[in-house]
Amino acid sequence: MHSHLWHPYTQAKTAPPPLKVKSAQGAWLELDDGRRLLDCISSWWVNLHGHTHPKIAAAIYEQAKRLEQVIFAGFTHDPAEQLAEKLLQKLPDQFNRVFYSDNGSTAVEVALKMAYQYWVNRGQPRQTLIAFEGAYHGDTVGTMAVGGRSIFSQVFADWLFEVEYLPFPGTYLGDTSAPTREAETIQQLQDKLEQFPERYVGVVIEPLIQGAGGMQICRPEFLQALRRVTAEVNLPLIFDEVMTGFGRTGDWFACIKAAVQPDIICLSKGITGGFLPLAVTVCTEQIYDAFYSDDPLKTLYHGHSYTANPIGCAAGLASWELMFENEPNFKSMEAKHLHHIDSLQTHPKLKNFRVCGTIAAMDLVTPDEPGYLNQISLEIRQRSIERGVLLRPLGNVLYLMPPYCITDEELALAYQTIEQIVD
Ligand SMILES: Cc1ncc(COP(=O)(O)O)c(C=O)c1O
Repeated sequence: MHSHLWHPYTQAKTAPPPLKVKSAQGAWLELDDGRRLLDCISSWWVNLHGHTHPKIAAAIYEQAKRLEQVIFAGFTHDPAEQLAEKLLQKLPDQFNRVFYSDNGSTAVEVALKMAYQYWVNRGQPRQTLIAFEGAYHGDTVGTMAVGGRSIFSQVFADWLFEVEYLPFPGTYLGDTSAPTREAETIQQLQDKLEQFPERYVGVVIEPLIQGAGGMQICRPEFLQALRRVTAEVNLPLIFDEVMTGFGRTGDWFACIKAAVQPDIICLSKGITGGFLPLAVTVCTEQIYDAFYSDDPLKTLYHGHSYTANPIGCAAGLASWELMFENEPNFKSMEAKHLHHIDSLQTHPKLKNFRVCGTIAAMDLVTPDEPGYLNQISLEIRQRSIERGVLLRPLGNVLYLMPPYCITDEELALAYQTIEQIVD
């Protein structure tokens, strides 16, 4: 371990030393000691088109020579305007405003503040957000508050504002109980809304798949029901698409795949193809209208030093173009995952297989408690690295989320590695 670095999500005393990466290309990381690793987690789910893609690298270089950064209050620039226009062309029609920030947590934090202040600005202040058990929305204090309470936020429990939770009706291949559990969750929501019609600020959810909470998948039908019920009472629905955006679910955005129009969408991770930190919170004109006023108090007083950084936006534009090239890849990956999973289905140590577009997940059967601290995670990580493949299970949840440039042979290697390790 380096004597001055403090790594994220790492207990330095017990963790193995970090691997030094010298370079990377396509789906591969090249280590300082000469080993190569197939990046099956897209470097924390950000990389879309492969590492060091020359088109994004060139766009960054060109932008850096023209305009590297400028304050975004009172100023604007082409890359920010163009990226916003591109995003809005694909997102459902009623989305109209793009607010920039620089990581997934801030994209969600902005959404929470937008929803809260939306009610204040309308003269009907409300207090409570509705979120889902097992959710993960980030590590800032506000996003920890709306995440499912877990070891990630346990220490800060006293600091977190109160949220009301609904059960997330997760499902998997062969599960038949999802419709009943979905109906129960929807009923709980309806009861809340009937009992306290003026209490709730909005509902926040990771659409189609909860990420860090264990790659739990829900059916589009559930999101459609959620939309129906929230729309009936004009309750803002926030889709945290930080992980699911930009092709991850097998369509451009989860809201498109699920055919649901929320009121606010949070995007980050894949927005620059995994090159630079950037995020957006996109909202409808109805939300924006509540802030559009002569009254200074109705302003959204939020911003970050690097809001809409021009180089980040230029990377975003280059990545956007590559999304069209890669569309066949992110749309066909679900069938490939299902093909590989077919031969793992009967393995006695694996269960609850689930696939959503480019993401496949399964639970390892272990004698220990399931969950993030399950020791199997570290063991799988080490054994896969020994075999030249980067896997990073979430506790006993093993998943693959490769970049879209992964070849059929590379994907087969990832599955072979899983099979060997689990055996
Ligand atoms: C759904 C979701 N929301 C928010 C975040 C937070 O993003 P960041 O780590 O960029 O702050 C993540 C990160 O994993 C995420 O998966």
